[in-house]
Amino acid sequence: MTTDTGAALELGDIQAATLMPRPNPYAGAYLALRIDDRHAARELLRRLIPLLEPVSSFDPGRPVSLGVGLSFAGLEAIGVPAESLATFPSEFQQGMAARAAEIGDVGENAPEHWEAPLGSKDVHLVVAALARDTALMEALVVLAQDAVRDLPGVSPIWQLDVHVPPDGREQFGFKDSISEPTVEGTNILGSNPHEAPLKAGEFVLGYEDENGDLPPMPQPEVLGRNGTYVAFRKLHQRVAAFRRYLRDNAADTEATWLAAKFVGRWPSGAPLALSPDKDNPELGGDPTRNNAFLYGDDPRGLKCPVGAHARRMNARDSVITGQVRLHRMIRRGTNYGPSLPPGVLEDDGAERGLMFAFVGAHLARQFEFVQKQWVHDGKFIGAPAERDPLIGVQDGGEFTIPQRPIRRRLRGLPDFVVNRGGEYCFMPGLRALRWLADLDT
Ligand code: HEM
Repeated sequence: MTTDTGAALELGDIQAATLMPRPNPYAGAYLALRIDDRHAARELLRRLIPLLEPVSSFDPGRPVSLGVGLSFAGLEAIGVPAESLATFPSEFQQGMAARAAEIGDVGENAPEHWEAPLGSKDVHLVVAALARDTALMEALVVLAQDAVRDLPGVSPIWQLDVHVPPDGREQFGFKDSISEPTVEGTNILGSNPHEAPLKAGEFVLGYEDENGDLPPMPQPEVLGRNGTYVAFRKLHQRVAAFRRYLRDNAADTEATWLAAKFVGRWPSGAPLALSPDKDNPELGGDPTRNNAFLYGDDPRGLKCPVGAHARRMNARDSVITGQVRLHRMIRRGTNYGPSLPPGVLEDDGAERGLMFAFVGAHLARQFEFVQKQWVHDGKFIGAPAERDPLIGVQDGGEFTIPQRPIRRRLRGLPDFVVNRGGEYCFMPGLRALRWLADLDT
């Protein structure tokens, strides 16, 4: 299959980790490394490249897989020439911490409260490692550590172990990673048969995007082509506070109903749009049906509130200000930390949450726009006082549940999610990684 530019997607060059769905369940780890010596970093890339898979030879049965990205500071540290660095978009050059005010990372989410070294100029190279189970994962991390042991110029400075449980549920108890866009030119099956495939240029550099443009591509072409951007965020989830809020604001039988109104889906993954009154685990577990819906028959949000998290993040055919297709993203969410046992309402002090990863060709138009407008400003749905009820920085925000005869309005929402830190990375194609490894500056 080809894109409209006539250029076939070079699936043999694009890192599989960008486009391919990951196995489920799985264990994984994010590793951040600092580069003190560019020659050592290039040697590390030479060792990593043979371990990376392109989309074309991705094997879902493979026990382990890796993805590699570099921050702007990392590209500088490995010796990318200044004239090339200048061709990266300014938001990427600045990095996530410098963009905090733009993307709603304020108050306790602000970079001065982030976990070190996140948000510092030391996060250079990020490796995401996935394995079928924890034992394989540990073996993989040991291999990765061995790969840098004799390279004193590259230091591992941070690690976060992540996992996806067999039921695919995130820490609040809802099945996640159901809805993903289809990418034109790949044969990866999309999850929503009602959404036309998105142009490859929305997710990979070097191809036409939804505006009919070639997205600005870092130069030289060998570096930019087939690359993409990743925004990762370590999002702490206040699970006990979430449960207490539900208990305090809903009669016992209603707590799951209220939570589903926040999310837009029931815990099993069944969408409110298809099952408005009660959970339907059979529907939630059926990948051919659990994302096959639109919101057009529910303009007022009587089934799924227009302000529910999933509906804000992808309003589908709802009437909103702006165009949904220009702000779509590929998501890779994974849990970190222990889950809070069912029924526990007191915080146990454990650090738990979701390691969120955005993948897309446009950091500003996709990730930053969504954080700013769809998460933190309700104007696009005609509810200026409302923010995303699940992940927004609330500032005393409201959430409306449309109902007959009278709507329900919740006021003074607390924050259920806090950002512990993150970074923007560039995930180069395989040819580009070889180019970086062979730099002679
Ligand atoms: C701790 C933080 C978060 C939690 C617990 C969470 C949870 C969920 C859940 C349960 C779903 C429904 C499952 C699905 O449709 O795949 C969902 C969907 C989604 N979320 Fe989140 N999410 C979080 C953070 C974020 C962030 C930071 C973004 C973007 C900036 C985001 C964007 C989306 C998108 C695009 C969808 C799919 C909507 C659709 O296509 O219907 N989420 N999320």
